[in-house]
Amino acid sequence: MESFTQNTKFFGDTNPEVLAKSFGTPLYVYNESILRERMRQMQGLIRSVPFTANYSIKTNSNLTLLRIALDEGMNADAMSPGEIEFLLRAGFPENSIFYVANNVSNEELLFAIERGIMTSLDSVSQLERFGQLNPNGKCALRLNPGVGAGHHEKVITAGKKTKFAVAQEDIDAAKKVAQKYNLKIVGVNQHIGSLFMDATPYLQAIENFLQLAKGFEDLEFVDFGGGFGIPYRKLSGENALDIESTSTALDRICGKFAKEYGKPLVFKIEPGRYIAAESCVLIGRAYTLKQNAGVDYVGTDIGMNVLVRPSMYGSWHDIEVYRDGKILSNDDGTSSYTVVGNICETGDILAKDRVLPNVHENDLLVVLDSGAYGFCMSSNYNNRLKAAEVMIGCDGQPRLIRRRQTIEDLFREFPEYQ
Ligand code: LLP
Repeated sequence: MESFTQNTKFFGDTNPEVLAKSFGTPLYVYNESILRERMRQMQGLIRSVPFTANYSIKTNSNLTLLRIALDEGMNADAMSPGEIEFLLRAGFPENSIFYVANNVSNEELLFAIERGIMTSLDSVSQLERFGQLNPNGKCALRLNPGVGAGHHEKVITAGKKTKFAVAQEDIDAAKKVAQKYNLKIVGVNQHIGSLFMDATPYLQAIENFLQLAKGFEDLEFVDFGGGFGIPYRKLSGENALDIESTSTALDRICGKFAKEYGKPLVFKIEPGRYIAAESCVLIGRAYTLKQNAGVDYVGTDIGMNVLVRPSMYGSWHDIEVYRDGKILSNDDGTSSYTVVGNICETGDILAKDRVLPNVHENDLLVVLDSGAYGFCMSSNYNNRLKAAEVMIGCDGQPRLIRRRQTIEDLFREFPEYQ
């Protein structure tokens, strides 16, 4: 693919230079049409049985995205009271929210219990805590299907090397605790990890998971979690996940299980990355060109505080280069660059030894696939400010959906500045 932003008309009626001049950089820019299309794709994933797709808001909790998810009829899953509060304020009804708790306090559990929000417990210890707080209640249990998958060991959440979920050998103990407090386990969920491009391990995990699910008599839903990958190397031809064949396989597995289980059941998934990642690019400016020990550096305002994935996981994000609002092509000559940010760490690297069109100072770098785990993992490291976010609407026009932080925002947390 020569250019993602050109092929998709990503910037609508504008261009990155106009956006950078109007809103500043670094700037997260979303495209509403792509976002809505991804939501619809995920909602149509399973057709043979009752099905809902929960948008996993840890991926991106911008209120505008949440309202669009609601408008598209999605449910949602949350990891914290903060995420629940965002969903409620975006307008999600309590019964559309699934709280997937992990190692949380009584206060956090009560926050969900008081609002009647379905909660998943992922250890015998947390189930006991929940039972004490909400005897005779309903809840879900997160199971470990024994198979994990993901782009990095840090994001694999099933199998042996993880803190998450109840292992198969602990299920009996969990059932005993449920009995002790008269808790009804009405749902089981799994999440095996983030980013698979081949659905085989996911489908294998689902088969294992459904075997375990059979041992629960009161189920109203089963939830397969997220993990659907996107092609981060699309500029060099990486293919998208084959959604059609994944969908066919899921239809078959779910249809069979629904028959065997014999009671009405809703099937769920929790996609995050698949929905948000490709709907967003991150624009930054090149302020420095320099050579050190034979390496050509491009110094930008996209530090690890703005997009941490490359420095945290070694993740790859494709980059396009724009000059005066026009995209540069490789045909005009390329060089190999190490693209870095403005943070005081040598590990502040966005892309290492990356072949790009020859970069000039003040060019714009457009970092693709930044909508998932981009803004939400950004920080104030070095007392730098969080970026602004803009959305190109279906009408092709940009509008601000989160203002840039100010230095005053940082002072607001100190008692003497209240
Ligand atoms: N459900 C649960 C319980 C999860 O823990 C996650 C992600 C999801 C759903 C959504 O997974 P997705 O569809 O987005 O793969 N920061 C890492 C990814 C961490 C994923 C955490 N859990 C990254 O930037 O790659």
